Amino acid sequence: MTTQHESVVYPPSAETVARAHVDAAGYEQMYAASITDPDAFWGEQGKRIDWIKPYSQVKDVNYNFGEVSINWYSDGALNVSANCIDRHLATRGDQTAIIFEPDNPDEPAQNITYKQLHGSVCRMANVLTSMGVTKGDRVIIYMPMIPEAAYAMLACARIGAIHSIVFAGFSPDALAARVNGSDAKVVITADHAPRGGRQTPLKSNADAALLHCKEDVKCLVVKRTGGQTTWIEGRDYNYNALSAAADDSFAPVEMNAEDPLFILYTSGSTGQPKGVVHTTGGYLVYAAMTHEITFDYHDGDVYWCTADVGWVTGHSYIVYGPLANGATTLMFEGVPTYPDASRFWQVCEKHKVNQFYTAPTALRALMGQGNEWVEKCDLSSLRTLGTVGEPINPEAWNWYNEVIGGGRCPIVDTWWQTETGGHLMTPLPGAHAMKPGSAMKPFFGIVPVVLDPQSGVEIEGNDVDGVLCIKDSWPGQMRTIWGDHERFQKTYFADYKGYYFTGDGCKRDADGDYWITGRVDDVINVSGHRMGTAEVESALVAHVAVAEAAVVGYPHDIKGQGIYCYVTLMNDAEPSDALLKELRTWVRTEIGPIASPDVIQWAPGLPKTRSGKIMRRILRKIAENDFGSLGDTSTLADPSVVDDLIANRSGK
Ligand code: WTA
Repeated sequence: MTTQHESVVYPPSAETVARAHVDAAGYEQMYAASITDPDAFWGEQGKRIDWIKPYSQVKDVNYNFGEVSINWYSDGALNVSANCIDRHLATRGDQTAIIFEPDNPDEPAQNITYKQLHGSVCRMANVLTSMGVTKGDRVIIYMPMIPEAAYAMLACARIGAIHSIVFAGFSPDALAARVNGSDAKVVITADHAPRGGRQTPLKSNADAALLHCKEDVKCLVVKRTGGQTTWIEGRDYNYNALSAAADDSFAPVEMNAEDPLFILYTSGSTGQPKGVVHTTGGYLVYAAMTHEITFDYHDGDVYWCTADVGWVTGHSYIVYGPLANGATTLMFEGVPTYPDASRFWQVCEKHKVNQFYTAPTALRALMGQGNEWVEKCDLSSLRTLGTVGEPINPEAWNWYNEVIGGGRCPIVDTWWQTETGGHLMTPLPGAHAMKPGSAMKPFFGIVPVVLDPQSGVEIEGNDVDGVLCIKDSWPGQMRTIWGDHERFQKTYFADYKGYYFTGDGCKRDADGDYWITGRVDDVINVSGHRMGTAEVESALVAHVAVAEAAVVGYPHDIKGQGIYCYVTLMNDAEPSDALLKELRTWVRTEIGPIASPDVIQWAPGLPKTRSGKIMRRILRKIAENDFGSLGDTSTLADPSVVDDLIANRSGK
């Protein structure tokens, strides 16, 4: 996989320019306005959504370390569910809001209109209320990619409850940690989650998790497969029976713009995952605006984001952004390669998808299967293509452009994070040229700066690289870490004072365009899923046979990065293939299949400084098979461990 910066430039076609919401001159003018007078700019953009009480204040932000506080539209009141549903009823009640495409292609798709969405969300809100959920309570959503997952999100928003979605691929232990961390009252789950022809037993995972949670946590169970589950009377609630009997109206609760909308746990460089908090007003304005402009979404389009609602991409770009804009958004339950490698393209053809948004890892996997899977499908409806989650290599970009987009479709390489709520950098269709692998330009209101990692001084000019920070706030920014504002400040505002620190490295090329060069901390990106190496290490050392573990990322053709683990065993444990398998299963059980180690290398010793700090730089180089540039190893307490690690480096 090459990631070198190619200089090929693809200007937007005349057709794209003519259709786009924003052209090159429009971008320059709007961008300048957004920076010179953010209050006026965002004051105007706030009108995209409906307010129960209008705001008089727009931006109220303090980035000073020790007193960080971020507020937007803070005297306004609104309800997100009313914005995503009710306000569309008069004009588009019979339009499809959600297309549901099941895992099994032989199962019929469902078209859910805005009217039907309204009824289902109100019924779910009534069910949750009857279970005792009120404004401000936390609700965990641990669901397959089915419409009920969106109903659950919107029902929480309607009540004013704070949802926290846990990706269905996470283990019971990870689920329990999030139930406890957010002190949730209810877990919403389903019997089983079908995916790629297999089934994850979600309810029994939830049962296992709830053994480690407070006794009064209730469980609302949606029937998906009808498969068998155990049932605990008094704790478990049957969604299908209750919602059938529930009233189909529910008045949306008035929320302050700064009331939390959701918590989403994400990995950091240290410790356990942190609960990123997004609030109501600014988040929705930003999600709606970026959805419309980045994808060049127009009324009547069919829009498909292949992410899972368990990740931030699913929050902002399957549910909240598209529905706030009155779009038709497609929810896909399956995987790109089931029943075969043409599934994505068949779904595009079947539903005449106009905007398609996916992750580079999926493109790389599909590219490897050959073009015949694509060529048998009619992709002429496609207009905008997007990528998210990790840098895209030029080969995959070119394949996406030529084979999927037929050279007609702009590709928006959207760089952003769980913390940012929406896109911060991306080329905009019709406004910008594209360069394969570059996130190109900042979105409105975003001032990216490249800092010297050591001095923290801003590097001016072009053709420079360093760490990426953002100079000022935007409405979609996270507000705090749930229950730990100090950790929030320390993570994002301590290293480079006065800036939001992204954790990413970045290059600004000779033309002033931005390229994300990857994380500068101990966060890795595996198949577009973000993971802290510390989480995998702590899972490994929790095994009785493991004395110590160090985990690094290494380049992986399909996944972008793979998980490479160096494991030092207890004196009484013997390395064996059986133990290797056991450790792999162990990590999957502790965290989930997405954390499954790709390589485990037995390490009799780890390279440490005399003060005991593990030199990860060296471990990364060994994992990369790059022994020539290990740098200075003389400061190690025992330099000979490095020779041993090189001699025994695992084959991959
Ligand atoms: C990486 C996903 C390069 C980056 C929305 C970031 C990207 C992390 C891109 C956030 C991109 C995301 N090009 N790298 N277009 N998009 N990243 O929180 O390292 O799951 O910091 O949010 O993914 O991952 P997260």
